[in-house]
Amino acid sequence: MQRIAAMGWDELQAAVADCRDCRLCEQRKQAVLGVGDVEADWLFVGEGPGAEEDERGEPFVGQAGKLLDAMLAAIDLQRGRKVYIGNAVKCRPPGNRTPEAAETAACFPYLQRQIELIRPKLIVALGKPAAETLLDAEVKVGASRGRLFDYRGIPLIVTYHPAYLLRTLPDKAKAWEDLCFARATMNKLAGA
Ligand code: URA
Ligand code: SF4
Repeated sequence: MQRIAAMGWDELQAAVADCRDCRLCEQRKQAVLGVGDVEADWLFVGEGPGAEEDERGEPFVGQAGKLLDAMLAAIDLQRGRKVYIGNAVKCRPPGNRTPEAAETAACFPYLQRQIELIRPKLIVALGKPAAETLLDAEVKVGASRGRLFDYRGIPLIVTYHPAYLLRTLPDKAKAWEDLCFARATMNKLAGA
């Protein structure tokens, strides 16, 4: 862990590409570190790569990614512009199953290092695995929305994962509220 904690971006990229620290390495085509502005104010954290992400090496480029892009646009954000997008695990869980606690734990040093390098003003955890990994606690998304959590001094907001929203349309309105809350929080943080 000492090793990862001292890495720069190129080293991180190379390290995840070769990483065998959990069994998600076995079936991945490639590890997906993350994408975006390395000096982002906003950090969005998903669960893990799906099939398209595993193929292309970029997070959130499939159906859920389209919705995430629309969610970003709704609060005047754009992929790559003051925004960084990452995942709790860097390698695709087979069949898109939820990553296990041992897997998110094994992968967490990479995310921790990414956050140290980016130093975002606000973190948005998309769904339960991201929230639980970052907060090191059991999280119920429905009960955690609308609250400000803290990751090592950085404010953190929990909302639904876009893939869940695609299956659960009624909760889309709640996700919209969460995005407005995130935007208002950022405006406050930025002194706007
Ligand atoms: N779902 C995620 O959680 N992350 C991705 O990168 C794609 C889909
Ligand atoms: Fe390593 Fe993370 Fe991939 Fe597991 S998911 S093999 S810990 S990079």
